[in-house]
Amino acid sequence: MRIDRGEVIALVGENGSGKTTLAKLLSGLYEPDGGRVSWDDTDLAEVDPDELRHRIAVIAQDHTRWPLTARYNISMGTDKGEPALVAAAEVAGADQVVAELPHGYSTLLDRRFKDGQELSGGQWQRIAVARGFHRDAPLLICDEPTAALDARAEHALFERIRQHADGRTVLLITHRLASVRYADRIYVLDHGKVVEHGTHDELMGLDGLYADLYGLQARAYSA
Ligand SMILES: Nc1ncnc2c1ncn2[C@@H]1O[C@H](COP(=O)(O)OP(=O)(O)O)[C@@H](O)[C@H]1O
Ligand SMILES: [Mg+2]
Repeated sequence: MRIDRGEVIALVGENGSGKTTLAKLLSGLYEPDGGRVSWDDTDLAEVDPDELRHRIAVIAQDHTRWPLTARYNISMGTDKGEPALVAAAEVAGADQVVAELPHGYSTLLDRRFKDGQELSGGQWQRIAVARGFHRDAPLLICDEPTAALDARAEHALFERIRQHADGRTVLLITHRLASVRYADRIYVLDHGKVVEHGTHDELMGLDGLYADLYGLQARAYSA
C-alpha cells in the first residue's frame, strides 16, 4: 500500500476485514510481524515513537469522553489559541454543539459535576472529530468515527474532512462505500489482505468485490 502526501485515501471492507489493524500498523501503534512500513525512506521501526505520534492524529472508533470541559476535550491541554479551537470545532460541526452548552467551551462535559452537561453519542463524536483536527498533524486517520451516525451524516462528515484536509494526508476508514466515492484512491480489504485498489470509477470498472459490495449497499439505501 502506498500513500502520497496530501492524498485522501479510503480503506474499505467488511467488518473484521482488517481496516483498523492496517491503520494501527501504518501509524506505528502495532509493529508488523513481517514486512515494513516506511515514511519517505525511513522505516517506522527506526523512528522514535514520540516523534511519530506528533505527526499523526487519530479519530478512533472508540473515542474517549473526558470528564473535563468542552475546550479541554478538543485542545487536550495544548494552547494553540482561540482561533485554532474554533476552526477545529467548525470543521467537525462541534461549534453547534458548544453553542447550545450553558457555559460554551467552559462547560464541564460530565453531569456528575455542578453545572456539568451530558452529551449524546453524536455530539461526543463531533467533539472527538474536532480534537483530531485541532491536533493539526500531517496524517489524519479517521477510523469509522461515525458509528453513532447514520449513513448520510457519515457522508457529510467525510465530505467536510475532505474539503478541509488542507494539504494533510487523510486516511478514511469505513464499511460504508457511499462515503468514499470522492477519495483520491480506495483500498479494498478482505480477510486481512488488500484485494483491490483504485479510484471509485476504476473499482466499479473492475467489477470485483468493491463493485459487488457497492451494488449491495446502494440497493439497501434505495430500498
Ligand atoms: N493481516 C492480518 N493478519 C492476521 N490477522 C488480521 C489481519 N488483519 C486483521 N486481522 C485480525 O482480524 C480481526 C479484525 O480486524 P480489524 O482490523 O479490527 O477489522 P475491521 O477494522 O476491518 O473491522 C482482528 O482480530 C485482527 O487482529
Ligand atoms: Mg475497525
